[in-house]
Amino acid sequence: MSDDNKRFALEAKGLAKTFPYGEERLKVLVDADMRVVAGRSISIRGESGCGKTTLLNLLARLDFADTGELYWNGESYDPKLPPGPRDAARRACLIGVVYQAYYLIPEMNVLENVLLAARLAGSMGKDAKQRARELLNRVGVTNRERQLPQKLSGGERQRVAIARALLNRPKVILADEPTGNLDERSAGDVMELLLEACREEDAGLVLVTHNPSFAKATDEALNLVKGELSPA
Ligand SMILES: Nc1ncnc2c1ncn2[C@@H]1O[C@H](COP(=O)(O)OP(=O)(O)OP(=O)(O)O)[C@@H](O)[C@H]1O
Ligand SMILES: [Mg+2]
Repeated sequence: MSDDNKRFALEAKGLAKTFPYGEERLKVLVDADMRVVAGRSISIRGESGCGKTTLLNLLARLDFADTGELYWNGESYDPKLPPGPRDAARRACLIGVVYQAYYLIPEMNVLENVLLAARLAGSMGKDAKQRARELLNRVGVTNRERQLPQKLSGGERQRVAIARALLNRPKVILADEPTGNLDERSAGDVMELLLEACREEDAGLVLVTHNPSFAKATDEALNLVKGELSPA
């Protein structure tokens, strides 16, 4: 592994992705490059349908590319291979994902939802529970650990999802419109929390957002246009 690769928590070069579209293929990503550094934040903006979620899915190896290169913490992965079970545990350790729709498990209480991350990483134990409680405190959801997600507000649910994303001390947080379902005030709080977590936990943050002022608050702002990323 070269030192150059090791500098990035996550790196992608020349990612391309098409989807079947009738008889043809829809070109979504053409030549996307991305370099994520621990402790620094990047925002991605772009029109609806331009491929932002597709890009995050490729970076997280939840989907596979047509061509390109992908490195997780300097380690090379073939982005053209369909994701396999070994990716799931590796992803759980390295990458925290936050979605617009929270994706908390409705039958599990708040603490169990946060601990899911440890279960996926194969690291359940007393330490995980303690860390989960600390994180819930830190995101401001206290004394609610036994409640089911449906009892929480949207902002609180997203805070729980952020605690879950941070549990395994990931090197990268991928957040796909994490404030899309929230009112202005909760959105601002969640945004602040993500930026603070990125600094304090020394994780890189990739934030997909439609909000121009949130995009400006990150260290680097990118636009996704015609399948390529460029500085905003
Ligand atoms: N599994 C799939 N099969 C076929 N087409 C797909 C698939 N997934 C995404 N697409 C298409 O790829 C394009 C990019 O979708 P994507 O969800 O990445 O956009 P987006 O930038 O995240 O949009 P939004 O801002 O609305 O969330 C869209 O035209 C979408 O219809
Ligand atoms: Mg999307």
